[in-house]
Amino acid sequence: MHEYSKVDINNSQKEVFLEYEINTAKERVGRYKDVLDAYAKISNEEKRPIKILDIGGGGGHFSAALSQHLVEVEYEIFSIDTIEHESWSKFSEISFIKGSAFELNALFDKNSFDLVFANYVFHHLIQDSYRKTINGISFVMDSIKSILNDGGTVCVSEISYNIPKIENLSSFLIYRASIIKTPFLAMIFKKFGSKSAGVGVCFQPIKKWKYLLCKSGFRISQSHDISSRIVRIILREHVFNIVATKGQDK
Ligand SMILES: C[S@@+](CC[C@H](N)C(=O)[O-])C[C@H]1O[C@@H](n2cnc3c(N)ncnc32)[C@H](O)[C@@H]1O
Repeated sequence: MHEYSKVDINNSQKEVFLEYEINTAKERVGRYKDVLDAYAKISNEEKRPIKILDIGGGGGHFSAALSQHLVEVEYEIFSIDTIEHESWSKFSEISFIKGSAFELNALFDKNSFDLVFANYVFHHLIQDSYRKTINGISFVMDSIKSILNDGGTVCVSEISYNIPKIENLSSFLIYRASIIKTPFLAMIFKKFGSKSAGVGVCFQPIKKWKYLLCKSGFRISQSHDISSRIVRIILREHVFNIVATKGQDK
């Protein structure tokens, strides 16, 4: 049994995330075309459905866009989120599960998925200390490795705020500031644009996201910084798509 607790996002986060999902899902699926094509080939050759899990799948729009992309390919798509969304009823082709990323080992069989997506979910796995939060993220990465088939793939989208020389410190300070629940201070952080004020958020430097995946036994095969130059320069914000494959069991 794991020791990690789940933290639900708030309603204003839910609204912003849903709008983002709806506006970007199709384009984001397109970025994984080569990975999806490779699995489509495997599915056709081995005459079996490819099995996909979308962790922290929110309203399901990314999973729905995946299913639309997989024309003439047999698939099973599961999407898990701690919050049940009204939009789930629109997508009958997706199997939705209300549950937490911390429960993957209990919910799914070992070696049962070909492909797992974790889009902007790791930084929401907030615990009551920074160290426990990082350990929790590693726990979920270990669980993903366990439920993936040998050679299976995890696709991660994540965010980094890279302030040179103080990357680790800035990640820690953002975590500390965002978990403050005092209404006045939370309101100030919200005014500065922090959607997660009072709930917490744990962005890591890109090197650390990759390190955590490798520590869980993944091999990084692709890493793309997809943020615009202007956002990188002004906000120091970087958005990464990382593709990693399951290596040998540890
Ligand atoms: C930023 S949204 C991303 C939604 C979607 N993956 C996308 O990229 O469009 C993060 C999602 O992670 C979910 N989430 C947060 N903690 C979770 C947990 N412990 N287990 C599963 N989902 C979680 C939230 O409810 C939210 O829907």
